[in-house]
Amino acid sequence: MKSNVIRAGCAAALLAAGAAAPAWAQDANQARSLAATCFTCHGNEGRSVGGVPPSLAGRDKAELLQTMKDFKAGKRPATIMHQHARGYTDEQLELIAGYFAGVKPGPVVPAARGGY
Ligand code: HEC
Repeated sequence: MKSNVIRAGCAAALLAAGAAAPAWAQDANQARSLAATCFTCHGNEGRSVGGVPPSLAGRDKAELLQTMKDFKAGKRPATIMHQHARGYTDEQLELIAGYFAGVKPGPVVPAARGGY
């Protein structure tokens, strides 16, 4: 009887542990989806085509974060980045900067074209 109680307790603990993804995994997923909003212009994974606008992949995290904060504050001249930077909290900008800093700079991999 006693061992059943213990087993039930363990199962409950395991279920509770399995229900929530670890915090770091959630952060990583969130960082990727936030960073993906930049891919349209800065290239897939931040590797820009022809360097315009500049690649973000493999750049220094602190430098990227500072640049974004300067765009947000309007301190750095921009055409479009002021609006972009203002759409994110400082915590989100830190996740985005960390994501791009962790991407290896490299050749642009074109999206696969199917059918023909
Ligand atoms: C609509 C296109 C577009 C999107 C989307 C976009 N950017 Fe930009 N980005 C630009 C352009 C254009 C510039 C050049 C500055 C300007 O004119 O605003 C730039 C400049 C930058 C720079 C300065 C690079 C340098 O070396 O001078 C950084 C950093 C940057 N963007 C980060 C981001 C991040 C992070 C995101 C996603 C949250 C993002 N951008 C989304 C178009 C875009």
